Amino acid sequence: MADNTYRALVVRESQDGKFSCAVENLTKEKLPAGDVLVRVRYSSLNYKDMLSASGNRGVTRKYPHTPGIDAAGTIEESASPDFKPGEEVIVTSYDLGMNTSGGLGQYIRVPASWVVKKPANISLRESMIFGTAGFTAGLSVLRLVDHGIKEGCSILVTGATGGVGSVAVSILSHAGFRVTAVNGINDETAFLESIGASEIIPIPDTAESAGRPLLKERWDAAVDTVGGNMLVFALKSVKSDGAVTCCGNAGSADISLTVYPFILRGISLFGIDSQNCPMDRRTRTWNMLAGNWKFPWLGKLASEVALDGVVSQIERIRAGKHHGRIIVNIQD
Ligand SMILES: NC(=O)c1ccc[n+]([C@@H]2O[C@H](COP(=O)([O-])OP(=O)(O)OC[C@H]3O[C@@H](n4cnc5c(N)ncnc54)[C@H](OP(=O)(O)O)[C@@H]3O)[C@@H](O)[C@H]2O)c1
Repeated sequence: MADNTYRALVVRESQDGKFSCAVENLTKEKLPAGDVLVRVRYSSLNYKDMLSASGNRGVTRKYPHTPGIDAAGTIEESASPDFKPGEEVIVTSYDLGMNTSGGLGQYIRVPASWVVKKPANISLRESMIFGTAGFTAGLSVLRLVDHGIKEGCSILVTGATGGVGSVAVSILSHAGFRVTAVNGINDETAFLESIGASEIIPIPDTAESAGRPLLKERWDAAVDTVGGNMLVFALKSVKSDGAVTCCGNAGSADISLTVYPFILRGISLFGIDSQNCPMDRRTRTWNMLAGNWKFPWLGKLASEVALDGVVSQIERIRAGKHHGRIIVNIQD
């Protein structure tokens, strides 16, 4: 392959408005302008990548396009004094993989302001097992810790079988918190025990408590990844002065709530936005993920595919058949 060409997944729109994906050879000149050229070594697959690969205009406006909201690799060229060729870096969030050519290709070119220097104690591969899902879990835990939630406290994690939830359970249990995990629709007790949940509860029947402004105080804090009734349940049942983080809408985007958790129990609700989170919190979170929060079973949370295997995995995500993290090995 010539020096200026590279392999990438490309999503194309046909004249009749249908979308298809295939691995193609592209030229580096076609990459967008940016301060740094990164040779991507690993990426990961997220729900948003499936949306981008399916023609969802809320995620990606223009095609042909290379998805991939996560990338980890090595700086090849840099016009920024902050990065040198050969440095290992992590790029997630901002516009990567949405309207900027993403991590499901051998190269990305991005602004230096999007780039995080990879901490020493984590490999490029491990950083992509975390990926945006794990980073979001890390941001959620960081908010609780900054709120004053300490080791030994009890934490409820909703959507615990999902990408964000399972990493949150893992970080929290490894860091000495007592975790109550909400099970999936299918029983995943064995998996949740293996990642350190000390109590596992079924998805609560929130219809029966819908009219009650508050429920019995049960947890010091909660990480919610589901939204809707699950977020409401968490806010109503966290103890006085506790905190709840909200990052997702896997269940629903709508909430029906009174002000009582806030004015009678002093509960704090923290929104989590991994995409636009400021760089100081971003690097602090990655340093924690590479340090005290790096749990020993990280490698078991993900399966690995090559770039040529991505199209079939995207089909599985689209069909709701995939669970757990998928990393993509972007070989030579
Ligand atoms: N704010 C941010 O920056 C950010 C970043 C990343 C992700 N997110 C969002 O965070 C959410 C979680 O992402 P993810 O990657 O962890 O998704 P995921 O892997 O699909 O997991 C979703 C979890 O939610 C559970 N769930 C779905 N519907 C439910 C319902 N009606 N009641 C109770 N539980 C339900 C699922 O249970 P089952 O096991 O039974 O299916 C699963 O445990 C998504 O909405 C995603 O878009 C936000």
